[in-house]
Amino acid sequence: MKTIYITRRETFNAAHKLWRPEWSDEKNWEVFGKCSNHNWHGHNFELFVTVKGAPNPETGFVINLKTLSVIVREKVIEALDHKNLNLDVPFLKGIMASTENLAIAIWDLIEQDIIENGGELAKIKLIETENNFVEYFGGKEPF
Ligand code: NI
Repeated sequence: MKTIYITRRETFNAAHKLWRPEWSDEKNWEVFGKCSNHNWHGHNFELFVTVKGAPNPETGFVINLKTLSVIVREKVIEALDHKNLNLDVPFLKGIMASTENLAIAIWDLIEQDIIENGGELAKIKLIETENNFVEYFGGKEPF
């Protein structure tokens, strides 16, 4: 089987802060720095969803990119775009709104839909700033 990886990019913007209420202001600043700013800060996130598989003999597709885009937009972008990640997003309740945790949550949100459309989720890449991004492979080894 010829395995190939295909990626769909989507973007959203959202606000958050990294803050533990049980910690002092000093400790929050020491650990989270500017990310602990009381009155929030925002990012223009770039999300890359990578699906792996063999091209379908009839379509040549691993997964229809239009289908993948609809899944990501309906499940992820609508839930996150222009939202406050700490306050507005039910699936992040009680979770530190870090880029790491967000990437893992996005995986969990869409993995089943991708399977149902014949694909296998391989990677979530989430860019927070031009210098910082995370990659999640579902707990498996990087490909
Ligand atoms: Ni931030």
